[in-house]
Amino acid sequence: MFPENFVWGASTSSYQIEGAVDVDGRGKSIWDTYSHTPGRIKNGDTGDIACDHYHRWPEDVELLARGGFTAYRFSVAWPRILPDGAGAVEQRGLDFYDRLVDGLASRGITPWLCLYHWDLPQVLQDKGGWVSRVTAQTFADYAAVVAKRLGDRVKHWATFNEPNVHAMFGYGDGSHAPGVKGLPNMLAAMHHQNLGHGRAVQALRAEGTDFRVGSIVALQRIRPSADRDEDRRAVERFDAMWNGACLDPLKLGRYPDAVAADFAPLIMADDLVTMHQPIDFVGMNFYGPIYAQDAPASLFGAWFGPRPSDMPVTAMGWPVDPTALTEQLIRVSERYDRPDIYVTENGACYDDTVGTDGTVHDQARLAYLRDHLNAAQRAIPAGVNLRGYFVWSLLDNFEWSEGFSRRFGIVRVDFNTLRRTPKASYQWLSEFFARQKRR
Ligand code: FCB
Repeated sequence: MFPENFVWGASTSSYQIEGAVDVDGRGKSIWDTYSHTPGRIKNGDTGDIACDHYHRWPEDVELLARGGFTAYRFSVAWPRILPDGAGAVEQRGLDFYDRLVDGLASRGITPWLCLYHWDLPQVLQDKGGWVSRVTAQTFADYAAVVAKRLGDRVKHWATFNEPNVHAMFGYGDGSHAPGVKGLPNMLAAMHHQNLGHGRAVQALRAEGTDFRVGSIVALQRIRPSADRDEDRRAVERFDAMWNGACLDPLKLGRYPDAVAADFAPLIMADDLVTMHQPIDFVGMNFYGPIYAQDAPASLFGAWFGPRPSDMPVTAMGWPVDPTALTEQLIRVSERYDRPDIYVTENGACYDDTVGTDGTVHDQARLAYLRDHLNAAQRAIPAGVNLRGYFVWSLLDNFEWSEGFSRRFGIVRVDFNTLRRTPKASYQWLSEFFARQKRR
């Protein structure tokens, strides 16, 4: 059993589900530009319609309520609020999240608001995006605008979603929007998001003394691809870049030793002090262990390598090993002196088959969730202050470069009719939550 008051949530993100990209004054984001660039996304998919959550949100809130979820983590689309990135506020954009937050409250579901899940206003990218230092302050100003409007009802705030992944793929290897490449750009994007985090925490604290504020990072267990010295060194560097670079500055006020020299030229005056704001929780997105290998010609000298051949994988090709979740929770807990941790994303992509009656018996996803919940639970007696678990994702959605070909939902979305059908995993989770609450 999990502790009492454990938070049972589901996670989504704005660009992946909302659609309605030209509605109510919304500006363009880097994902609009990227997805409309031929060849970028599998099958030429875009988020133009996605799950049409912008219009169908009452049905989605209903799904959360019926599933027994006590929390819902969503992200706000910056270009809906500030179509020009800064300056004039689009009230209709705020109105949408206002309705959503009230809808959640009416069903007793706690909103967890993430300010940035990768959909930077395109106008800001035109000025350099996260490679530019200025974006850090622009982000904090945006945070204040959202907090002023929703802060009376939203108390749980995350600044970023996976700034590490955003920087590596968006500004490092170019496989995500905005498609920028190169190590200097990646490092700058990390450093400026860290700075944006610090400034946004200050802005949020100024708006609400009762806010619980944190950040969400992809935190995976990194293991060597082979039993070789160079791969073990690669693990150290990969771990520092992936797990450390966007969390050590926030929690320890410095960059990890293995990458400190990379970041040194970017650090100005009191940057490290600004990044090191007290925060109330660490959000950990976990999918599976990463096997890293020495790769001198790669982005930062260490890169993804082969996994053990007998290890199962999901349809994303991501290794499945729940023991890595227990290990990584303990590691994060110990490294940062036992903070409150929430697993803010965990889930799996499989090629679902739909029965003739429209049902999806997603046994593989269900087993993945069951095994990872067990693994998360095992970290608690080891001293980890684990406070909640959010499944990724409520709905099948736009999976970035993979488009709609990759399904992570516990609710199936038919992308022709937009019809939602809960899968077996949804049913299983809701019974699991009910058992947890009944004791
Ligand atoms: C994470 C992202 C999320 C989703 C999952 C599968 O890296 O935060 O948006 O795409 O992976």
